[in-house]
Amino acid sequence: MSKIQKPIGTYDLLPDESVLWQKLEDRIRRMFRSYNYSEIRTPMFEYTELFARGVGESSDIVSKEMYTFVDRGERSLTLRPEGTAGVARAFIENGLAQKTPGAVKLWYFAQMFRYERKQKGRYRQHVQYGCEVFGAPGPDIDLELLLMLHQFYQSLGLDELNLKINSVGSPECRPQYRERLLEFMKPHMDRMCGDCHRRAETNPMRMFDCKNETCQEILADAPKLIDHLDDDSKRHFEAIKTGLNEFQVPYQVDPNLVRGLDYYSKTAFELSYAPLGSQGVLTGGGRYDGLVEQLGGPSTPGIGFGAGMERLVLILRETGKIDNLTAEAPIDLYVVAMGEQASLKANGILMEMRAAGARCERDFTGKSMRKQIQAADKLGARFALMLGDNEIESKTLVVKNLKEGSQNELSWSDDLGELKTLIGV
Ligand code: HAM
Repeated sequence: MSKIQKPIGTYDLLPDESVLWQKLEDRIRRMFRSYNYSEIRTPMFEYTELFARGVGESSDIVSKEMYTFVDRGERSLTLRPEGTAGVARAFIENGLAQKTPGAVKLWYFAQMFRYERKQKGRYRQHVQYGCEVFGAPGPDIDLELLLMLHQFYQSLGLDELNLKINSVGSPECRPQYRERLLEFMKPHMDRMCGDCHRRAETNPMRMFDCKNETCQEILADAPKLIDHLDDDSKRHFEAIKTGLNEFQVPYQVDPNLVRGLDYYSKTAFELSYAPLGSQGVLTGGGRYDGLVEQLGGPSTPGIGFGAGMERLVLILRETGKIDNLTAEAPIDLYVVAMGEQASLKANGILMEMRAAGARCERDFTGKSMRKQIQAADKLGARFALMLGDNEIESKTLVVKNLKEGSQNELSWSDDLGELKTLIGV
């Protein structure tokens, strides 16, 4: 029979790799905890309308990349392509604003689904760690997010990072700018691609997302929103730049950075690993002050970011920065048991030691005692405990230190105190 393969654009995370993922997940959790974020987990699918209204019909994500299906109840549902819309929906639906004094700071670690062309670092199912903050209008939270990311990537040893920032303004200045942009584009539209014609109709700023070279060349000379900001957006942007300068975080202002989602207002940013070019975008985010209202909630400012796990792993591998992360704690104790009685007793010892925090293993394949010790050694276990009929009768524990080759005889008490002391748990 022919073999069935995984769907295009997906991957299996094998045990070798999952160790690195777990370590990174721990670091991510620690980072968010230290900045006082709480975790949120929202459904993997939502009503399609949420993304159409939240992310925007004119975005590539909604118009080309969503996994949308009709369920048995004739409802249109979509596998979540990004995290912000679902978290904003949950924020409104669960009345989280009333439950927390001050800004609501939420983080997530979640699978996302986008029908994208297969490419290095680009998947149809990918994982993002990210956060969303609701109820913080000023630039101090924008700065805190950027500093947190900078600190995090530095702690992983990644320094060739490129932080690009821009302001996409507010609903006050955008309509005027839209007219200006359309005016500039009018004589060039016959050279623009079909997608850009559609974008000019629905949301002209989306033209800046276009990857087509001719379109990009024309847009290079187009007027930029950053030069036409209202006073409030201007002040907001200046404050972020001052903060980044103060903390010596290098950045570049990129007036073409509009980000591919419609909900952004004021701050937009992307952090990439410079040597990898466009595949190296590690994190994208920004402010979305109108989104909560757009989704039927009370007017509430918002800001957040999403960061690709696969790209982080790829970059850590390519730069060789994973060794200090992947060093696994060794197995503390391998119980070498021979005979039915010993096998049964081994369970009790293993349970007690595991409850105390030791990492333990035993044999399940019927190996001889000699072969079991060899297996323990091969697995890198620190200690092997020998358990046969003699030991059970004499109530002694014979423990070999596999690293040093020495051997100890310990007394067998209910709480295994001596064994725990020897192993250090
Ligand atoms: P995004 O830029 O579309 O933003 O995605 C965020 C990050 O997810 C990207 O920078 C990239 O690292 C990773 N990513 C995106 N698509 C893929 C893919 N197909 N394969 C692998 N990695 C990918 C958002 O999704 C916004 N929700 C971010 C946000 C949160 N803005 C405000 N709050």
